Amino acid sequence: MSDAPLPFRTAPGAVPLFGHLFQLARAPLPFVRQLRRHGPVVRLRLAHRQALAITSPRLVRRILVDDARLFDKGGSVADSMEKTLGNSLVTCPADEHPRQRELMNPGFHPSRMPRYSEAMLGAAVEVVESWAPGRTLHLEHEAHRLAALAVSRSLVAAPAAASAAAVLAEGLPDISRGMYWRGLLPGKAFASLPLPVNRRYERQMARTRQAMDLVTAQYRNSGEDYGDVLSKVAPACEHAPDPHQAIHDQVLTLLFGAVETTAAALVWTLRLIDQHQLTTLLRDELRNVLGDRLPTHEDVPQLDYLQRVITESLRLHPPAWLGTRVATEPVPWPEGTIPAGTDVTFSPYALHRDPEVFEDPDVFHPDRWKRENVTPEQRQFHFAFGAGKRKCIGDTFAMNELALALAVILSRWKIQHHPSRGVQPTPRFILAPPPTPVTLQPR
Ligand code: HEM
Repeated sequence: MSDAPLPFRTAPGAVPLFGHLFQLARAPLPFVRQLRRHGPVVRLRLAHRQALAITSPRLVRRILVDDARLFDKGGSVADSMEKTLGNSLVTCPADEHPRQRELMNPGFHPSRMPRYSEAMLGAAVEVVESWAPGRTLHLEHEAHRLAALAVSRSLVAAPAAASAAAVLAEGLPDISRGMYWRGLLPGKAFASLPLPVNRRYERQMARTRQAMDLVTAQYRNSGEDYGDVLSKVAPACEHAPDPHQAIHDQVLTLLFGAVETTAAALVWTLRLIDQHQLTTLLRDELRNVLGDRLPTHEDVPQLDYLQRVITESLRLHPPAWLGTRVATEPVPWPEGTIPAGTDVTFSPYALHRDPEVFEDPDVFHPDRWKRENVTPEQRQFHFAFGAGKRKCIGDTFAMNELALALAVILSRWKIQHHPSRGVQPTPRFILAPPPTPVTLQPR
């Protein structure tokens, strides 16, 4: 792509040399949110690079669905993800995607979900049974623990996966922070600086890669079918130029995809339930549907209100808050032609707060998702799991896990949240909640 300024209005506030990097480093959420005031397509300067921010939900839908053939994975978020996760379903280019997706799809078929739900339920019960009355703990650690246990008993079930997922979960805050900074400042120069953000990222990635190597070796050497997704995917990876690396990258991607996002959504939802005092309403629903028993897979669709609470939580706090693509050829939109090779970026966090789509966008209002209230547009413009061919393969898995985990937690424990110190989440690759200390009392 040429260095000529892209033919769109530049967002205000760029400073010489750095452009908009300071805003994206210090307070990215308010920054991405106000961009819509400057037009549906806005030019950003990121040091010596430039990108287009797409602020209209309608145009983002075109990028992901209607004009998806004109945009491929690429841009700062996707590049940083590829450096961390390697070549896998989430990072691969469009020409490789159908093959990789076809390989994974059977593992996410609805017929597999009841078994996965059992594993999730087992994980949720194990975590909440380890809690003690009067104890203070950090919800974000517990949510990571729960999500790591759930995925390592379902999608990636080789014996070494449980400890590998736990290693990853422990390192995720540092990895996610490092990924964000490497997305802002790609290239070797920043990555090689001896900064705490780089040192922590490298240290946690080294531990994580080592743990993934053990899991990979089990898939390659044991010859066992663990009844999970990877047992089907691993044999196909034996034809790759580097089979070990190919399996390693798919393992890491599934664990990464399933742990950090779901854990963040679980904590955000528990925070919102507390702030809006919804525990009694939710417990009434749980009692009506379940009585005193534990939830099952079949109960999840009956938990209407809980589902709306989760959907609304994902609207306000979409864990994948920033997405990117690269234009593969000139895109002749009425708003202006996007040259081939241009990085485009969009933020589900900002799009979900567009007042033209969601009335009172900052208000947490689960009933906006009631069948009689929700519009087709609002459904289409809820981008928490993406859209189109690259839509999250784990969306149903995640929604089930969130519903089951919340049902178990809310019916067993009263959660007393401590007054929040830092309410603003720190910039990370995933929109992670601030530290959430709580004290527990049994019901
Ligand atoms: C609340 C939880 C989750 C959220 C918010 C989430 C979000 C997303 C989003 C936005 C995308 C699309 C990325 C893009 O368009 O560039 C995506 C893709 C993906 N997600 Fe999730 N995800 C979640 C849970 C999961 C789970 C449980 C898994 C299971 C392993 C998973 C695995 C993946 C994979 C493999 C892709 C790539 C799909 C493809 O390109 O075909 N995610 N996710």
